[in-house]
Amino acid sequence: MGISAEKTSLIDALIGCVGEEHVLLGDKVSARAQHVWNQTPRKALAIVRPESTEQVSKVLALCHAARQCVVTHGGLTGLVEGDRTDETDLVLSLERMQRIESVDVMGKTLTVQAGCILEKVQHTAHSHHLSFGLDLGARGSCTIGGNLATNAGGLSVLRYGMAREQVLGLEVVLMDGTVVSSMNTLLKNNAGHDLKHLFIGSEGTLGVITRAVLRLRPKTHSCNTAMLACSTFNDVIAVLNHLEQELAGQLNAFEVLWKPVVALNTQTDLTGAVKAPFDLSEPFYVITEARGANANTDGPRYEQVITDCFHHSWASDGVIAQSEQERTNIWAIRENIELMLAHTPNYVFDISLPISTMDTYIDNLHIELNARWPNTKLFSYGHAADSNLHIIIAPPKPITNTELALDEQYDQVNRMVFEPLSKLGGSISAEHGIGLSKKAWLKYSRSEAEINIMRSLKLVFDPNQLLNRGRIIDAC
Ligand code: FAD
Ligand code: LAC
Ligand code: ZN
Repeated sequence: MGISAEKTSLIDALIGCVGEEHVLLGDKVSARAQHVWNQTPRKALAIVRPESTEQVSKVLALCHAARQCVVTHGGLTGLVEGDRTDETDLVLSLERMQRIESVDVMGKTLTVQAGCILEKVQHTAHSHHLSFGLDLGARGSCTIGGNLATNAGGLSVLRYGMAREQVLGLEVVLMDGTVVSSMNTLLKNNAGHDLKHLFIGSEGTLGVITRAVLRLRPKTHSCNTAMLACSTFNDVIAVLNHLEQELAGQLNAFEVLWKPVVALNTQTDLTGAVKAPFDLSEPFYVITEARGANANTDGPRYEQVITDCFHHSWASDGVIAQSEQERTNIWAIRENIELMLAHTPNYVFDISLPISTMDTYIDNLHIELNARWPNTKLFSYGHAADSNLHIIIAPPKPITNTELALDEQYDQVNRMVFEPLSKLGGSISAEHGIGLSKKAWLKYSRSEAEINIMRSLKLVFDPNQLLNRGRIIDAC
C-alpha cells in the first residue's frame, strides 16, 4: 500500500525537523519489536526520534496540523498495550532523549530527559550518595517517561510511594505543540493547581512527558534480604505487621508468592530458574528486604526481627541472604516472570484488593477457573503490602483454537477476575494502568462521573484525539 501525498509531505516535514536518519520508515519500522516480550515486527507509518523538547514540540505541531495520530514510546515494557500501533499510526520514540541534565546533591533532585532508563537514574543517584525511590523488574529497559506516564509502582512503594511521589517537576508537550514547563524543584509548592499530577498516570493521553525533576532520597548503607515460608495467609499478614512495626521505616520491600510461582521458578531444569533456598512445603512465601543507615547494627536487628517470626510460628522455614549472590538468587525467584508466560495462552492481571481478602479471593478464583477449564494454571504473587497482586492465568487452549475462541476465553477469565473486586473494594488495575487491554473493564473501578471527567480532560488537552488515541477511554 503506497503512502498518500499528504502523508508524504508530513514525512518530508518531519525529516526537515529531526533529520532523515531519525524518521524510520518501511523495513526500519518492521525491524523493531512490538514489546520487550513480543518480537513480532512493529507496524507504523513511521518512527520519529526527536532529541529535544523543542523537536518534540515541532513534531507534534506538524502531526496536529496533518491530523496524524501519534503513539509515544518509551522502553516498551508497559503491560496494557498502551504502545500498540498499526500502519496508520506515527510512533514518537523518546529513545534519543536519555540525558541526565543535572544532579543537585544539596536539594536532592535529579533533572532528566524522559527517555532515560530507570536503572541509569538509580545508578547516577547512587554515585552521588543518594538513591531514587522507584524500583521495578523492568528497571533495565523502562524509561522515566514511561514510569511517570503509567504512574508505575514496583518493589519499594510501601516505603517511598508510587512514581507520582518521586517527582517534583515535569515538562510536557501537548498535541498541538504547546510546551508546558513545570520544572519545580521544591518539595512544597502550592501556588495553584499542581498540573504535573494531571499528566502522571494519564498513560500519555494528555501530553508527551519530555523532562522531569525527580526527588532523591538519602542513600542507604545496609541491605538485608530474607525469604520465608508461611503455612497460612494470616501468618503472612502477621509477618508484615511485625516487620513494619519493628523495622521502624526501614522495610523496603515485602513481596508474597503463592507456591506455584516459587515451584516453577526453582525448577532448575528450566533455563532461568534458580535453586530453591529451602524445601518448599508451605503454600505461601515472603520475600522481604530492609535498607537502613547503619551497616553494623542493621543486620543483627533484622535477624532478630526475622527470628521473632519463627518464635511466633508465623514462619516455618526461611533464609537470610548472606551474600549479594544469595540476595540475587532470592530476587530471581520473584522476578522471573517469563517462565510463567511460557504457558500459552496466558492472561496477565494486576489487581488491588484488601490484603485480608487476598487468600480467599485467590482460592475462589482457582475453584471457578478449574470448574470451567480443568487444569488451569494460576500463578499469583505480588506487592501484597501495597494491596497489589499480579495473577497469571494459563488455561488449556480452547478446543476450537481460533482467535474468536481465545477472545471468548479471555472475556470469561476477565469476568472471573474482575467481578468479585467491586464487592471487595478492589481495583482492576493497581499499577500497570488501563491502556487498551483493560479499557472495557474500567467501569468496574471508576464511576460514570469519574469517567466523564476523564473524557472532558482528554478533550481539553487533545480535542482531535490524536495522541495515544483510545487508551484508558474512548473520548466520544
Ligand atoms: P512504554 O511501555 O514504552 O509505554 C507505556 C505507556 O506510557 C504507553 O501508553 C506509552 O504511550 C506511554 N509513554 C511512554 N513514554 C511516555 C512519555 N515520555 N510521555 C507520555 N507517555 C509516555 N510496572 C509497575 O508499575 N510495577 C512493576 O513492578 C512492574 N514490573 C515490571 C516488570 C517487567 C519485567 C515488565 C516487562 C514490566 C513491568 N512493569 C511494572 C510495567 C512497566 O515496566 C511499567 O509500566 C513502566 O513504567 C513502563 O515504562 P516504559 O518506558 O517501558 O513505557
Ligand atoms: C511485577 C510486574 C508484573 O511486579 O508488575 O512483577
Ligand atoms: Zn508489579
